[in-house]
Amino acid sequence: MNQNETPLFTGLKKHVGKKPTQFHIPGHKAGKGMDEEFRQFIGENALSIDLINIQPLDDLHHPQGMIREAQELAAEAFGADYTFFSVQGTSGAIMTMIMSVCQPGDKIIVPRNVHKSITTAIILSGAKPVFIHPELDDRFGISHGITPEAVQRACEAHPYAKGVLVINPTYFGITADLKKIVDIAHSFDIPVLVDEAHGVHIHFHERLPLSAMQAGADLAATSVHKLGGSLTQSSVLNLREGLVSHERVQTVMSMLTTTSTSYILLASLDTARRHLAINGRQMVEKALHLAEMARNEINKIPSLYCPGIEILESEATYDYDPTKVIISVKNLGMTGYDVEVWLREHRAIEVELSDLYNILCIIAPGDREEDIQLLTEALMELSQTCSSTYEHKEVAVKVPEIPVLSLTPRDAFYASTEIVPLRKAVGRISAEFVMVYPPGIPIFIPGEIITEENISYIHENIEAGLPVQGPEDDTLETIHVITEQRAFK
Ligand SMILES: Cc1ncc(COP(=O)(O)O)c(C=O)c1O
Repeated sequence: MNQNETPLFTGLKKHVGKKPTQFHIPGHKAGKGMDEEFRQFIGENALSIDLINIQPLDDLHHPQGMIREAQELAAEAFGADYTFFSVQGTSGAIMTMIMSVCQPGDKIIVPRNVHKSITTAIILSGAKPVFIHPELDDRFGISHGITPEAVQRACEAHPYAKGVLVINPTYFGITADLKKIVDIAHSFDIPVLVDEAHGVHIHFHERLPLSAMQAGADLAATSVHKLGGSLTQSSVLNLREGLVSHERVQTVMSMLTTTSTSYILLASLDTARRHLAINGRQMVEKALHLAEMARNEINKIPSLYCPGIEILESEATYDYDPTKVIISVKNLGMTGYDVEVWLREHRAIEVELSDLYNILCIIAPGDREEDIQLLTEALMELSQTCSSTYEHKEVAVKVPEIPVLSLTPRDAFYASTEIVPLRKAVGRISAEFVMVYPPGIPIFIPGEIITEENISYIHENIEAGLPVQGPEDDTLETIHVITEQRAFK
Protein backbone atom coordinates (compact mmCIF):
# COMPACT_ATOMS: atom_id res chain seq x y z
CA MET A 1 0.00 0.00 0.00
CA ASN A 2 1.15 3.49 -0.72
CA GLN A 3 0.79 5.78 2.30
CA ASN A 4 1.22 8.83 0.06
CA GLU A 5 -2.19 8.18 -1.42
CA THR A 6 -5.42 9.66 -0.04
CA PRO A 7 -8.19 7.78 -1.88
CA LEU A 8 -11.02 9.51 -0.06
CA PHE A 9 -9.78 13.07 -0.28
CA THR A 10 -8.60 12.60 -3.87
CA GLY A 11 -11.92 10.97 -4.82
CA LEU A 12 -13.87 13.87 -3.33
CA LYS A 13 -11.78 16.44 -5.19
CA LYS A 14 -12.25 14.52 -8.42
CA HIS A 15 -16.00 14.45 -7.88
CA VAL A 16 -16.34 18.17 -7.16
CA GLY A 17 -13.97 18.91 -10.05
CA LYS A 18 -16.72 17.70 -12.39
CA LYS A 19 -18.91 20.52 -11.02
CA PRO A 20 -22.02 18.34 -10.80
CA THR A 21 -25.45 20.00 -10.73
CA GLN A 22 -26.71 18.86 -7.37
CA PHE A 23 -30.33 17.93 -6.75
CA HIS A 24 -29.50 16.37 -3.39
CA ILE A 25 -28.82 17.49 0.16
CA PRO A 26 -27.16 19.44 1.69
CA GLY A 27 -29.48 22.16 0.47
CA HIS A 28 -26.85 24.89 0.67
CA LYS A 29 -25.47 23.41 -2.61
CA ALA A 30 -21.76 23.99 -2.13
CA GLY A 31 -22.49 27.10 -0.05
CA LYS A 32 -24.50 29.01 -2.66
CA GLY A 33 -27.63 28.91 -0.51
CA MET A 34 -26.22 29.75 2.88
CA ASP A 35 -25.51 32.72 5.08
CA GLU A 36 -23.00 34.90 3.23
CA GLU A 37 -20.78 35.81 6.19
CA PHE A 38 -20.37 32.16 7.17
CA ARG A 39 -19.83 31.11 3.55
CA GLN A 40 -17.02 33.59 3.12
CA PHE A 41 -15.44 32.65 6.41
CA ILE A 42 -15.48 28.89 5.82
CA GLY A 43 -14.49 29.15 2.19
CA GLU A 44 -15.58 27.54 -1.04
CA ASN A 45 -13.28 24.52 -0.90
CA ALA A 46 -14.61 23.27 2.41
CA LEU A 47 -18.21 23.82 1.32
CA SER A 48 -17.69 22.01 -1.98
CA ILE A 49 -16.85 18.78 -0.14
CA ASP A 50 -19.65 19.11 2.40
CA LEU A 51 -21.51 16.24 0.75
CA ILE A 52 -23.50 13.15 1.65
CA ASN A 53 -23.04 9.54 0.70
CA ILE A 54 -24.07 9.83 -2.93
CA GLN A 55 -22.99 7.04 -5.22
CA PRO A 56 -19.39 7.76 -6.18
CA LEU A 57 -18.44 8.76 -2.64
CA ASP A 58 -18.96 5.42 -0.86
CA ASP A 59 -20.86 4.92 2.42
CA LEU A 60 -19.30 4.77 5.89
CA HIS A 61 -22.05 2.35 6.93
CA HIS A 62 -21.12 -0.18 4.26
CA PRO A 63 -17.80 0.90 2.77
CA GLN A 64 -16.94 -0.65 -0.57
CA GLY A 65 -14.99 2.04 -2.41
CA MET A 66 -12.90 5.06 -1.46
CA ILE A 67 -13.81 4.97 2.27
CA ARG A 68 -12.84 1.32 2.42
CA GLU A 69 -9.50 2.04 0.72
CA ALA A 70 -8.86 4.94 3.11
CA GLN A 71 -9.66 2.73 6.11
CA GLU A 72 -7.32 0.01 4.81
CA LEU A 73 -4.47 2.49 4.50
CA ALA A 74 -5.23 3.70 8.03
CA ALA A 75 -5.17 0.12 9.34
CA GLU A 76 -1.71 -0.34 7.86
CA ALA A 77 -0.49 2.96 9.34
CA PHE A 78 -1.86 2.16 12.83
CA GLY A 79 -0.70 -1.49 12.78
CA ALA A 80 -4.30 -2.76 12.96
CA ASP A 81 -6.15 -5.49 11.06
CA TYR A 82 -9.10 -3.15 10.55
CA THR A 83 -9.65 0.56 11.08
CA PHE A 84 -13.12 2.12 11.27
CA PHE A 85 -13.49 5.87 10.83
CA SER A 86 -15.65 7.63 13.44
CA VAL A 87 -17.37 10.95 12.84
CA GLN A 88 -18.71 10.87 16.39
CA GLY A 89 -15.44 11.41 18.15
CA THR A 90 -13.70 8.91 20.34
CA SER A 91 -16.86 8.79 22.44
CA GLY A 92 -18.62 7.08 19.51
CA ALA A 93 -15.69 4.70 19.02
CA ILE A 94 -15.63 3.87 22.75
CA MET A 95 -19.34 3.10 22.82
CA THR A 96 -18.87 0.86 19.78
CA MET A 97 -16.02 -1.04 21.48
CA ILE A 98 -18.03 -1.76 24.60
CA MET A 99 -21.32 -2.52 22.88
CA SER A 100 -19.52 -4.87 20.45
CA VAL A 101 -18.30 -7.12 23.26
CA CYS A 102 -20.92 -6.75 26.02
CA GLN A 103 -24.51 -7.91 26.19
CA PRO A 104 -26.89 -7.03 29.04
CA GLY A 105 -25.62 -8.63 32.26
CA ASP A 106 -22.06 -9.24 30.98
CA LYS A 107 -19.20 -8.11 33.17
CA ILE A 108 -16.57 -5.65 32.00
CA ILE A 109 -13.43 -4.82 34.00
CA VAL A 110 -12.79 -1.07 33.98
CA PRO A 111 -10.77 1.49 35.92
CA ARG A 112 -13.05 3.82 37.86
CA ASN A 113 -11.45 7.01 36.50
CA VAL A 114 -12.96 6.54 33.05
CA HIS A 115 -14.38 9.12 30.69
CA LYS A 116 -18.15 9.47 30.77
CA SER A 117 -18.52 7.82 27.32
CA ILE A 118 -17.46 4.55 28.96
CA THR A 119 -20.03 4.78 31.73
CA THR A 120 -22.61 5.80 29.13
CA ALA A 121 -21.79 2.69 27.07
CA ILE A 122 -22.07 0.57 30.22
CA ILE A 123 -25.56 2.02 30.83
CA LEU A 124 -26.65 1.54 27.22
CA SER A 125 -25.29 -2.01 26.93
CA GLY A 126 -26.56 -3.12 30.35
CA ALA A 127 -23.10 -4.45 31.22
CA LYS A 128 -22.03 -4.78 34.85
CA PRO A 129 -18.84 -2.88 35.61
CA VAL A 130 -16.18 -4.49 37.77
CA PHE A 131 -14.29 -1.41 38.88
CA ILE A 132 -10.57 -1.46 39.48
CA HIS A 133 -9.44 1.46 41.57
CA PRO A 134 -6.77 3.46 39.78
CA GLU A 135 -3.66 4.47 41.62
CA LEU A 136 -4.01 7.97 43.07
CA ASP A 137 -0.98 10.23 43.02
CA ASP A 138 -1.19 12.53 46.00
CA ARG A 139 1.83 14.54 44.85
CA PHE A 140 -0.33 16.00 42.06
CA GLY A 141 -3.91 15.10 42.98
CA ILE A 142 -4.38 13.06 39.79
CA SER A 143 -5.21 9.43 39.14
CA HIS A 144 -3.08 7.14 37.02
CA GLY A 145 -3.81 3.80 35.42
CA ILE A 146 -4.36 0.32 36.76
CA THR A 147 -1.64 -2.19 37.58
CA PRO A 148 -1.15 -5.59 35.91
CA GLU A 149 -1.55 -7.18 39.37
CA ALA A 150 -4.97 -5.57 39.80
CA VAL A 151 -5.98 -6.83 36.34
CA GLN A 152 -4.74 -10.33 37.23
CA ARG A 153 -6.83 -10.34 40.41
CA ALA A 154 -9.91 -8.99 38.61
CA CYS A 155 -9.60 -11.61 35.84
CA GLU A 156 -9.21 -14.40 38.38
CA ALA A 157 -12.30 -13.20 40.25
CA HIS A 158 -14.30 -12.64 37.03
CA PRO A 159 -12.88 -15.09 34.45
CA TYR A 160 -15.96 -14.76 32.23
CA ALA A 161 -15.74 -10.97 31.92
CA LYS A 162 -16.22 -9.85 28.32
CA GLY A 163 -13.54 -7.17 28.32
CA VAL A 164 -10.78 -5.38 30.19
CA LEU A 165 -10.75 -1.66 29.49
CA VAL A 166 -7.52 0.30 29.84
CA ILE A 167 -6.85 4.03 29.48
CA ASN A 168 -3.56 4.24 27.59
CA PRO A 169 -2.24 6.89 28.06
CA THR A 170 -4.21 8.89 30.63
CA TYR A 171 -5.08 12.54 29.99
CA PHE A 172 -1.85 13.38 31.82
CA GLY A 173 0.19 11.07 29.56
CA ILE A 174 0.87 8.17 31.94
CA THR A 175 0.67 4.52 30.88
CA ALA A 176 0.67 1.21 32.72
CA ASP A 177 2.51 -1.84 31.33
CA LEU A 178 -0.08 -2.41 28.62
CA LYS A 179 1.69 -5.40 27.07
CA LYS A 180 1.65 -7.21 30.42
CA ILE A 181 -2.04 -6.36 30.92
CA VAL A 182 -2.85 -7.68 27.43
CA ASP A 183 -0.98 -10.93 28.14
CA ILE A 184 -2.87 -11.39 31.42
CA ALA A 185 -6.30 -10.69 29.90
CA HIS A 186 -5.59 -12.90 26.89
CA SER A 187 -4.61 -15.79 29.14
CA PHE A 188 -8.31 -15.71 30.21
CA ASP A 189 -9.45 -15.15 26.57
CA ILE A 190 -10.71 -11.72 27.59
CA PRO A 191 -10.29 -8.99 24.96
CA VAL A 192 -8.54 -5.73 25.87
CA LEU A 193 -10.26 -2.49 24.85
CA VAL A 194 -8.14 0.64 24.99
CA ASP A 195 -9.25 4.23 25.43
CA GLU A 196 -6.48 5.81 23.36
CA ALA A 197 -8.10 9.25 23.22
CA HIS A 198 -4.83 10.92 24.22
CA GLY A 199 -2.39 8.71 22.34
CA VAL A 200 -2.77 8.73 18.56
CA HIS A 201 0.83 9.91 18.13
CA ILE A 202 2.48 7.37 20.43
CA HIS A 203 2.39 4.76 17.66
CA PHE A 204 4.78 6.84 15.58
CA HIS A 205 7.81 7.30 17.85
CA GLU A 206 9.91 4.70 19.65
CA ARG A 207 10.56 6.97 22.65
CA LEU A 208 6.84 7.09 23.46
CA PRO A 209 4.88 4.34 25.24
CA LEU A 210 3.60 1.38 23.21
CA SER A 211 0.37 2.05 21.35
CA ALA A 212 -2.60 -0.25 21.88
CA MET A 213 -2.00 -2.07 18.60
CA GLN A 214 1.75 -2.42 19.33
CA ALA A 215 0.93 -3.95 22.71
CA GLY A 216 -1.42 -6.51 21.09
CA ALA A 217 -4.74 -5.05 22.35
CA ASP A 218 -7.93 -6.08 20.56
CA LEU A 219 -9.67 -2.72 20.12
CA ALA A 220 -8.51 0.88 20.49
CA ALA A 221 -10.57 4.05 20.27
CA THR A 222 -8.06 6.62 19.11
CA SER A 223 -8.64 10.39 18.85
CA VAL A 224 -6.98 11.40 15.61
CA HIS A 225 -8.57 14.81 16.10
CA LYS A 226 -6.92 15.44 19.48
CA LEU A 227 -3.25 14.99 18.58
CA GLY A 228 -3.09 13.53 15.09
CA GLY A 229 -4.05 16.52 12.95
CA SER A 230 -7.59 15.69 11.78
CA LEU A 231 -10.63 17.86 12.40
CA THR A 232 -12.43 17.92 15.75
CA GLN A 233 -14.91 15.04 16.13
CA SER A 234 -13.02 12.65 13.80
CA SER A 235 -11.48 9.53 15.35
CA VAL A 236 -10.69 5.93 14.52
CA LEU A 237 -11.46 2.58 16.03
CA ASN A 238 -8.62 0.11 15.47
CA LEU A 239 -9.15 -3.64 15.67
CA ARG A 240 -6.82 -6.59 15.96
CA GLU A 241 -8.80 -9.63 14.97
CA GLY A 242 -8.90 -12.78 17.06
CA LEU A 243 -11.17 -12.27 20.05
CA VAL A 244 -13.47 -9.66 18.45
CA SER A 245 -15.14 -9.94 15.04
CA HIS A 246 -14.84 -7.04 12.63
CA GLU A 247 -18.34 -7.72 11.26
CA ARG A 248 -19.83 -7.23 14.73
CA VAL A 249 -17.88 -4.00 15.21
CA GLN A 250 -19.03 -2.66 11.83
CA THR A 251 -22.66 -3.43 12.73
CA VAL A 252 -22.50 -1.73 16.12
CA MET A 253 -20.55 1.25 14.76
CA SER A 254 -23.23 1.71 12.13
CA MET A 255 -26.02 1.51 14.74
CA LEU A 256 -24.41 4.33 16.70
CA THR A 257 -23.49 6.55 13.75
CA THR A 258 -25.44 9.28 11.99
CA THR A 259 -26.52 8.41 8.45
CA SER A 260 -25.32 11.88 7.41
CA THR A 261 -21.59 11.36 7.81
CA SER A 262 -19.48 14.45 7.20
CA TYR A 263 -17.08 14.07 4.27
CA ILE A 264 -15.08 17.02 5.55
CA LEU A 265 -14.35 15.03 8.72
CA LEU A 266 -13.72 11.80 6.78
CA ALA A 267 -11.34 13.52 4.36
CA SER A 268 -9.48 15.04 7.29
CA LEU A 269 -8.96 11.53 8.70
CA ASP A 270 -7.64 10.31 5.34
CA THR A 271 -5.12 13.15 5.08
CA ALA A 272 -4.14 13.10 8.77
CA ARG A 273 -3.31 9.40 8.34
CA ARG A 274 -1.05 10.25 5.38
CA HIS A 275 0.71 12.96 7.36
CA LEU A 276 1.19 10.69 10.40
CA ALA A 277 2.37 7.72 8.32
CA ILE A 278 4.92 9.78 6.41
CA ASN A 279 5.93 12.53 8.83
CA GLY A 280 4.69 11.23 12.20
CA ARG A 281 8.08 10.36 13.68
CA GLN A 282 9.60 13.68 12.77
CA MET A 283 6.56 15.57 14.09
CA VAL A 284 6.70 13.76 17.42
CA GLU A 285 10.45 14.36 17.60
CA LYS A 286 9.82 18.09 17.31
CA ALA A 287 7.11 18.01 20.01
CA LEU A 288 9.44 16.05 22.32
CA HIS A 289 12.19 18.60 21.85
CA LEU A 290 9.84 21.51 22.59
CA ALA A 291 8.37 19.76 25.61
CA GLU A 292 11.83 19.14 27.04
CA MET A 293 12.66 22.79 26.54
CA ALA A 294 9.44 23.82 28.33
CA ARG A 295 10.04 21.38 31.21
CA ASN A 296 13.60 22.62 31.77
CA GLU A 297 12.60 26.28 31.77
CA ILE A 298 9.51 25.80 33.97
CA ASN A 299 11.52 23.89 36.56
CA LYS A 300 13.75 26.97 36.99
CA ILE A 301 10.71 29.03 38.07
CA PRO A 302 10.18 29.32 41.85
CA SER A 303 7.11 27.50 43.23
CA LEU A 304 6.39 25.62 39.99
CA TYR A 305 7.15 21.99 39.30
CA CYS A 306 6.91 20.17 36.02
CA PRO A 307 7.55 16.44 36.51
CA GLY A 308 9.56 14.38 34.04
CA ILE A 309 10.57 10.75 34.24
CA GLU A 310 10.54 10.85 38.06
CA ILE A 311 6.74 10.73 37.89
CA LEU A 312 7.21 7.01 37.16
CA GLU A 313 7.53 5.49 40.56
CA SER A 314 4.98 2.71 40.79
CA GLU A 315 3.49 -0.25 38.93
CA ALA A 316 0.69 1.94 37.56
CA THR A 317 3.16 4.44 36.14
CA TYR A 318 5.22 2.30 33.79
CA ASP A 319 5.89 4.85 31.05
CA TYR A 320 4.87 8.38 30.07
CA ASP A 321 4.44 10.75 27.19
CA PRO A 322 6.67 13.80 27.82
CA THR A 323 4.64 15.98 25.41
CA LYS A 324 1.97 16.24 28.14
CA VAL A 325 3.44 18.99 30.29
CA ILE A 326 1.91 18.81 33.78
CA ILE A 327 2.65 21.93 35.78
CA SER A 328 2.04 21.64 39.51
CA VAL A 329 1.06 25.14 40.74
CA LYS A 330 -0.04 24.28 44.27
CA ASN A 331 2.93 26.05 45.87
CA LEU A 332 2.06 29.34 44.18
CA GLY A 333 -0.85 29.80 46.56
CA MET A 334 -3.30 29.68 43.63
CA THR A 335 -5.47 26.92 42.19
CA GLY A 336 -4.78 25.54 38.72
CA TYR A 337 -7.98 27.24 37.58
CA ASP A 338 -6.79 30.65 38.85
CA VAL A 339 -3.56 30.14 36.92
CA GLU A 340 -5.54 29.20 33.79
CA VAL A 341 -7.59 32.41 34.10
CA TRP A 342 -4.49 34.54 34.83
CA LEU A 343 -2.75 33.20 31.71
CA ARG A 344 -5.86 33.89 29.62
CA GLU A 345 -6.42 37.39 30.91
CA HIS A 346 -2.81 38.59 31.08
CA ARG A 347 -1.16 36.82 28.16
CA ALA A 348 -3.95 35.34 25.97
CA ILE A 349 -2.52 31.88 26.63
CA GLU A 350 -4.97 28.96 26.70
CA VAL A 351 -4.05 25.74 28.49
CA GLU A 352 -5.57 22.28 27.89
CA LEU A 353 -7.03 21.92 31.36
CA SER A 354 -6.67 22.97 34.95
CA ASP A 355 -7.70 21.42 38.23
CA LEU A 356 -7.26 22.38 41.85
CA TYR A 357 -3.50 21.82 41.82
CA ASN A 358 -2.22 21.73 38.22
CA ILE A 359 -2.45 23.03 34.72
CA LEU A 360 -1.82 20.77 31.74
CA CYS A 361 -0.19 22.10 28.57
CA ILE A 362 -0.13 19.93 25.49
CA ILE A 363 2.90 20.34 23.26
CA ALA A 364 2.28 19.26 19.68
CA PRO A 365 4.00 19.57 16.32
CA GLY A 366 2.09 22.80 15.60
CA ASP A 367 3.93 24.57 18.44
CA ARG A 368 7.05 26.71 17.95
CA GLU A 369 9.95 27.70 20.22
CA GLU A 370 8.40 31.19 20.48
CA ASP A 371 5.20 29.68 21.91
CA ILE A 372 7.17 27.83 24.60
CA GLN A 373 9.02 31.05 25.41
CA LEU A 374 5.73 32.95 25.78
CA LEU A 375 4.47 30.32 28.19
CA THR A 376 7.61 30.22 30.32
CA GLU A 377 7.90 34.03 30.44
CA ALA A 378 4.26 34.32 31.49
CA LEU A 379 4.72 31.71 34.21
CA MET A 380 7.85 33.48 35.45
CA GLU A 381 5.92 36.75 35.71
CA LEU A 382 3.08 35.01 37.53
CA SER A 383 5.49 33.39 39.98
CA GLN A 384 7.10 36.78 40.72
CA THR A 385 3.67 38.37 41.24
CA CYS A 386 2.68 35.54 43.57
CA SER A 387 5.83 35.61 45.64
CA SER A 388 5.16 39.25 46.51
CA THR A 389 1.45 38.65 47.16
CA TYR A 390 1.22 35.24 48.79
CA GLU A 391 3.12 33.56 51.50
CA HIS A 392 4.80 30.41 50.21
CA LYS A 393 2.93 27.45 51.64
CA GLU A 394 2.91 23.71 51.09
CA VAL A 395 -0.59 22.68 50.08
CA ALA A 396 -1.92 19.28 51.10
CA VAL A 397 -3.41 17.57 48.06
CA LYS A 398 -6.80 15.91 48.51
CA VAL A 399 -8.09 13.21 46.22
CA PRO A 400 -11.55 11.97 47.15
CA GLU A 401 -12.30 8.33 47.79
CA ILE A 402 -14.09 6.48 45.02
CA PRO A 403 -17.72 5.97 46.07
CA VAL A 404 -19.16 2.50 46.57
CA LEU A 405 -21.32 1.20 43.69
CA SER A 406 -24.55 -0.20 45.08
CA LEU A 407 -26.63 -0.59 41.89
CA THR A 408 -25.55 -1.16 38.28
CA PRO A 409 -25.30 2.17 36.46
CA ARG A 410 -28.11 1.08 34.13
CA ASP A 411 -30.49 0.11 36.97
CA ALA A 412 -29.75 3.41 38.70
CA PHE A 413 -30.21 5.42 35.52
CA TYR A 414 -33.64 3.91 34.84
CA ALA A 415 -34.82 3.69 38.49
CA SER A 416 -37.48 5.95 39.95
CA THR A 417 -35.81 9.00 41.38
CA GLU A 418 -36.42 12.04 43.52
CA ILE A 419 -34.68 15.38 43.73
CA VAL A 420 -32.89 16.29 46.96
CA PRO A 421 -30.55 19.15 47.91
CA LEU A 422 -26.96 18.07 47.19
CA ARG A 423 -25.92 18.96 50.74
CA LYS A 424 -28.51 16.54 52.11
CA ALA A 425 -27.72 13.71 49.69
CA VAL A 426 -25.13 11.90 51.86
CA GLY A 427 -25.84 8.17 51.93
CA ARG A 428 -28.25 8.31 48.98
CA ILE A 429 -27.64 6.56 45.65
CA SER A 430 -26.91 8.94 42.81
CA ALA A 431 -28.98 8.63 39.63
CA GLU A 432 -26.82 11.15 37.79
CA PHE A 433 -23.25 11.78 36.73
CA VAL A 434 -21.26 14.57 38.37
CA MET A 435 -17.91 15.39 36.81
CA VAL A 436 -15.39 18.13 36.25
CA TYR A 437 -15.02 18.69 32.49
CA PRO A 438 -12.34 18.56 31.25
CA PRO A 439 -11.18 15.88 31.98
CA GLY A 440 -14.72 14.46 32.17
CA ILE A 441 -13.96 11.80 34.76
CA PRO A 442 -16.98 11.31 37.00
CA ILE A 443 -16.92 12.13 40.72
CA PHE A 444 -20.18 10.13 40.90
CA ILE A 445 -21.79 7.84 38.39
CA PRO A 446 -25.37 6.56 38.56
CA GLY A 447 -25.54 3.80 41.17
CA GLU A 448 -22.88 5.12 43.53
CA ILE A 449 -23.46 6.08 47.16
CA ILE A 450 -22.94 9.78 47.76
CA THR A 451 -20.46 10.61 50.51
CA GLU A 452 -19.81 13.73 52.58
CA GLU A 453 -16.21 13.81 51.34
CA ASN A 454 -17.27 13.78 47.70
CA ILE A 455 -19.83 16.54 48.23
CA SER A 456 -17.10 18.69 49.83
CA TYR A 457 -14.83 17.92 46.86
CA ILE A 458 -17.59 19.06 44.46
CA HIS A 459 -18.04 22.28 46.41
CA GLU A 460 -14.31 22.89 46.49
CA ASN A 461 -14.18 22.55 42.70
CA ILE A 462 -17.19 24.87 42.25
CA GLU A 463 -15.69 27.45 44.59
CA ALA A 464 -12.41 27.29 42.66
CA GLY A 465 -14.40 28.09 39.49
CA LEU A 466 -13.85 24.68 37.87
CA PRO A 467 -16.49 23.41 35.43
CA VAL A 468 -18.45 20.87 37.46
CA GLN A 469 -21.26 19.45 35.35
CA GLY A 470 -23.53 16.49 34.81
CA PRO A 471 -26.74 16.84 36.82
CA GLU A 472 -29.95 18.22 35.30
CA ASP A 473 -29.71 21.05 37.83
CA ASP A 474 -26.68 22.88 36.51
CA THR A 475 -26.46 25.06 39.61
CA LEU A 476 -25.67 21.80 41.46
CA GLU A 477 -27.92 22.81 44.33
CA THR A 478 -29.90 19.59 43.86
CA ILE A 479 -29.33 16.08 42.54
CA HIS A 480 -31.50 13.17 41.39
CA VAL A 481 -31.16 10.21 43.74
CA ILE A 482 -32.86 6.83 43.75
CA THR A 483 -36.19 6.92 45.56
CA GLU A 484 -36.03 5.04 48.83
CA GLN A 485 -38.79 2.55 49.55
CA ARG A 486 -40.24 3.15 53.02
CA ALA A 487 -41.27 0.17 55.12
CA PHE A 488 -44.08 2.17 56.80
CA LYS A 489 -46.24 5.02 55.60
C1 LIG B 1 -9.80 9.84 28.36
C2 LIG B 1 -10.81 10.26 27.33
N1 LIG B 1 -11.51 9.31 26.69
C3 LIG B 1 -12.41 9.63 25.75
C4 LIG B 1 -12.68 10.93 25.41
C5 LIG B 1 -13.73 11.22 24.38
O1 LIG B 1 -13.17 11.75 23.21
P1 LIG B 1 -14.04 12.63 22.19
O2 LIG B 1 -14.11 14.00 22.76
O3 LIG B 1 -13.28 12.53 20.90
O4 LIG B 1 -15.39 12.01 22.07
C6 LIG B 1 -11.97 11.96 26.05
C7 LIG B 1 -12.22 13.37 25.72
O5 LIG B 1 -11.75 14.29 26.31
C8 LIG B 1 -11.02 11.61 27.05
O6 LIG B 1 -10.34 12.55 27.71
